[in-house]
Amino acid sequence: MSLLGSDTTRGGFVPPVYPFDKLGELAELAAAHDGGAVDLSVGTPCDPPPPQVVRALGHSGRERGYPTSIGSVELREAAAAWMERRFGVSVSPSAIAACVGTKELVAGVPHWLRLRRPSQDTVLCPALAYPTYEMGALLAGCRAVPVPAGSDGSMQLSAVDEQDAERALCLWVNSPANPSGQLDDLGAAARWGRERGIPVFSDECYVEFTWSSAGRTILEHGDSGVVAVHSLSKRSNLAGLRVGLFAGDPELVEYLAALRRHAGFMVPGPVQHAGAVALGDDLHVLRQREIYLERLQRFAASLGGLGIPAEVPAGTFYLWVAVPDRFAGGGGDQSPAFAFGRHLARAGGILSSPGDAYGPSGRGHVRLAMVQPVDRLDLGLERLGRFAD
Ligand SMILES: Cc1ncc(COP(=O)(O)O)c(C=O)c1O
Repeated sequence: MSLLGSDTTRGGFVPPVYPFDKLGELAELAAAHDGGAVDLSVGTPCDPPPPQVVRALGHSGRERGYPTSIGSVELREAAAAWMERRFGVSVSPSAIAACVGTKELVAGVPHWLRLRRPSQDTVLCPALAYPTYEMGALLAGCRAVPVPAGSDGSMQLSAVDEQDAERALCLWVNSPANPSGQLDDLGAAARWGRERGIPVFSDECYVEFTWSSAGRTILEHGDSGVVAVHSLSKRSNLAGLRVGLFAGDPELVEYLAALRRHAGFMVPGPVQHAGAVALGDDLHVLRQREIYLERLQRFAASLGGLGIPAEVPAGTFYLWVAVPDRFAGGGGDQSPAFAFGRHLARAGGILSSPGDAYGPSGRGHVRLAMVQPVDRLDLGLERLGRFAD
């Protein structure tokens, strides 16, 4: 039985219940409130995308022909220019490729890598993490080996068993991290992978929402053996368009892009054009940063006032809130996180994401995504406050 709860031992693969489909009871409790649920469960942006990007979708002239799988020169040049502006790294557009949102890439990488190294069967990923790293391993018939985090949030790579490292297809690192918001040491991850010949994939989809320092990419530490993965879903509120990018080691990028071309992965032409327009603009990102930071600070402070300590994270738009002691025993066969999530739903109409969805070490936390306008966040807090009174 895996972290995700799928059972691969009795014949065919049985997909586990999708994490957000487990929220049924909580969703019902939250929706029963006058004014409805304040849904902070899924990290789906609620703010509008830049208007010029929406306009670009309708004026690309790219509807008729098949788009390139690797991504148009326009899109890859826009991505290279963004990386240069944002991180000061120079990446050739030929070492950048498009993906249909980064989730499909995360889920597919183990499968693609295993085709050329069939003897390897292990995916190393953070112990507390976005569940698709593990899912990608399972879909490729591999095993995911969780790497624990140290107190500073970085993966403790020294804890990886050498036998697991020998079997590894790749290492995933995610900074800023979903769900904890912590930053990892990308230089250390790159070095560790290079020393062992293990490709390191760095999921940097929240990099624009780094608060405690400048945003970082693994490519600042060279491109040999590493691939940075970027998404426009969070950066530009374009989760509905499905466009992401991967960039780095020219040989790895070329290999993945070639396989993906054969398999027919293509970002639609108009979306590629709109993605290039989004990457060309930084102003909307600056505004979005202010919006998320204000929500994070306001919500964290108000929760603190209600006796639920919460801290603005080092990055991301998530509050990773420790379950208060009175819920620590859980409820029946439910985790402390689920019991606290039930309280938030019942008392505040707030729908959260219980931390167990991100690995067993998450069972003492809930994740709250700041993806609702301030008036909705305040509504949830007001209800919680009234309940406490
Ligand atoms: C850590 C992480 N990686 C990747 C993704 C996938 O984003 P998308 O497929 O929209 O690019 C998400 C989405 O929530 C995420 O949290």
